[in-house]
Amino acid sequence: MHPRPPTVLSLAELHDWLLEHHGDTVDTDRLPAIRTEIEHLATRQVSGAVVELGCYQGAMALWMRAVLDATGQHRRHIHVYDSFQGLPERGMKDPDLFEAGYLRAEPEQVLALHDRWGRTPPTIHPGWFADTLPDQLPDRIAFAYLDGDYYDSIHTCLTACIPRMAPGGTLIVDDYADLEANPKAWNGLPGVKEACEDYFRVPTPLQVITGAGDLAFGRYTAPAPGTEQ
Ligand SMILES: C[S@@+](CC[C@H](N)C(=O)[O-])C[C@H]1O[C@@H](n2cnc3c(N)ncnc32)[C@H](O)[C@@H]1O
Repeated sequence: MHPRPPTVLSLAELHDWLLEHHGDTVDTDRLPAIRTEIEHLATRQVSGAVVELGCYQGAMALWMRAVLDATGQHRRHIHVYDSFQGLPERGMKDPDLFEAGYLRAEPEQVLALHDRWGRTPPTIHPGWFADTLPDQLPDRIAFAYLDGDYYDSIHTCLTACIPRMAPGGTLIVDDYADLEANPKAWNGLPGVKEACEDYFRVPTPLQVITGAGDLAFGRYTAPAPGTEQ
């Protein structure tokens, strides 16, 4: 007897399943916004890997894998990074919202989630960003999703990712709340925008992406060589 192959859900089915079972980190604004970014990689023929910095239990990584597969990008690899010890101690620029260790997950949860739905798992890089990113990021990044919540975490991610972005590649910073551009954005983690402003200087080159709810997303697009931002 061979074991039964895992069910492969359609994108619509997976969307609904993720909302039901991982609604703490993904929602009806984030899923389509990330889908659009991944689809653009194929239409714009941007080469390079997909990375997620702060993957928690792997819900968005699974979604990105499913969208890559649905758009013929089976060979594009995903790398995910997380302490798997939850959030670090907050810094001076972060609010007193979460305890250190909040959002702790295990790499096995990421693997099990992909296994359950018959998807190729990402390469998992456990450890603090400051330790893993300098040596373990791919040389060429087509899409990066930064979801590290805190000032230091986001600043470390930008420092490591931006020089590796493929021309035309994009990077989304979650929790980037620019209230002038989007007054509805959730502004619970103001250290995220501050890290972007300190890294890029003001005004940042991030373009605000809005959703139906309180989505706080900023998008950086890597310029083609020889062009100015
Ligand atoms: C909001 S959760 C990520 C949710 C995930 N992107 C998703 O959509 O399902 C934030 C994650 O960032 C990780 N994290 C934050 N700062 C970190 C750091 N400096 N190094 C490693 N991981 C970090 C935490 O462990 C946590 O799992």
